[in-house]
Amino acid sequence: MKNNQTRFAILVSGRGSNMSRLIDVSKQDSDSHGSIQCVISDNKKAPALKTARDKGIKSKYISPGKKYRTRLTDKAQAKYIKYLKKNKVDYILLAGFMRMLKPGLIDSFPNRIINIHPSLLPAYSGLDTHSRVIDAGEKTTGCSVHFVDSGMDTGKLIAQSIVEVSNDDTPASLGKKVLEKEHKIYPYIMKLLADNKIEYENWKMIVV
Ligand code: GRF
Repeated sequence: MKNNQTRFAILVSGRGSNMSRLIDVSKQDSDSHGSIQCVISDNKKAPALKTARDKGIKSKYISPGKKYRTRLTDKAQAKYIKYLKKNKVDYILLAGFMRMLKPGLIDSFPNRIINIHPSLLPAYSGLDTHSRVIDAGEKTTGCSVHFVDSGMDTGKLIAQSIVEVSNDDTPASLGKKVLEKEHKIYPYIMKLLADNKIEYENWKMIVV
């Protein structure tokens, strides 16, 4: 690894298919995609932890604390911050991390925490996006990459990919189509971040 490479951490809670793609592209070409320093999960049983380890990436479970289902306790969040700082992380990529972050963590990495969401935000924030999209009779959906703030899927948009919804789509088939786009757009954005091409203030959302 070169000294000037951008250093990423990935936060996960489950399957980790986006994480897997990000690891693969950074391993293929860390000069242009930066390097992944660590993967952290709030879920001890997340398959992503083993996948990351098998790919040679340091992966760690950090307990979210017992108080909340969708957030970290202050004590837990302090542990996340400590570990991320210890690993000298430049950017944090959320990839299916199922908890909202609180200001303490967001302020420790200002405009350097990014998320991917399976809808065209601001539409369909939150969970179960694909069934809601189908129930509403939408003709298009997609995925969004955005900066993270303390709201749910509310941060400034970086990029979106569009997917057509067919009449016979089920939540599962639509999810598969959207995921294929996610696996392309997230590595692409990772590369732009590694190249310092995305600057919060001046960025205008792109469609890729
Ligand atoms: C993806 O659909 C992502 O957009 C959302 O959670 C899902 C995670 O899937 N935030 P995976 O764990 O990357 O396979």
